[in-house]
Amino acid sequence: MEFTDVLVNRRSIRSFSEKPIDDSTLNEILSLAIESPSSSNTQPYKMAVATGGINKVIGKDLLDKYYAANKLNTMPLPLKAVSAITSGALPDGDFRPILGKYPDEFQKRRVTTGQGLYEVLGIERHDKKSRDEQMAKNFTFFNAPVAIFFFIHPGMTYTALVDLGIFMQSLMLIATDKGLGTCAQGALGMWKSPIKKHFTLPKKYKLVCGMALGYPDDHKVNEYKPPKVTLNDLLIPNKK
Ligand SMILES: Cc1cc2nc3c(=O)[nH]c(=O)nc-3n(C[C@H](O)[C@H](O)[C@H](O)COP(=O)(O)O)c2cc1C
Repeated sequence: MEFTDVLVNRRSIRSFSEKPIDDSTLNEILSLAIESPSSSNTQPYKMAVATGGINKVIGKDLLDKYYAANKLNTMPLPLKAVSAITSGALPDGDFRPILGKYPDEFQKRRVTTGQGLYEVLGIERHDKKSRDEQMAKNFTFFNAPVAIFFFIHPGMTYTALVDLGIFMQSLMLIATDKGLGTCAQGALGMWKSPIKKHFTLPKKYKLVCGMALGYPDDHKVNEYKPPKVTLNDLLIPNKK
């Protein structure tokens, strides 16, 4: 593919086929992403790549936690407090998600994007059950055969997050170029314990997020192309 086509054709994929990724293709995608730039070439990130059945076990564990967390929210306070401790549902990831509304213009963009996605899926605005079910699919990586979990070294402060973002975008573009699909997933930063069971995680590194990787199937959800801002929205005007 031409580079511009790769850039424009990359979309978040939320439904994958059963087709496995062969080891050499996976290795090539991951190895090429190492070409990414990073601050002072520090490359302050690592990844845990779950394949070959481990992804299924981690996915089941994450899904159980998601449902347990949802159940917690329906409980009266005293029971909720006890269950929060015993159920293992409390997030044990390293970064806390923004709770409630996003600030400023970002909440509007988030809502527009979410509504567009649910519209494609035929899910009504107030159909909480279907929305929860769609959210749940995050935790089994939308059925992708590979799940990647990304970590940064916090000693590198903000540059580590910038560098990881660039690395992830490289990975997504390389995968697109090879006919595969990806979805970056902040949702996969919620619980670390299921990953810890299967990988010897480096002590200082913090879990940031994850990514589903596989071959897209022909589900309509993969056709969703959310609106982007205009260039003018991003440009900071000159002083008059
Ligand atoms: C850091 C990051 C975290 C994301 N987390 C999720 C997620 O948890 N679940 C999900 O379905 N999509 C997630 N996405 C995908 C975004 O929703 C998607 O990139 C955005 O809607 C724009 O769509 P596009 O990727 O098709 O251009 C995430 C994307 C990024 C960059």
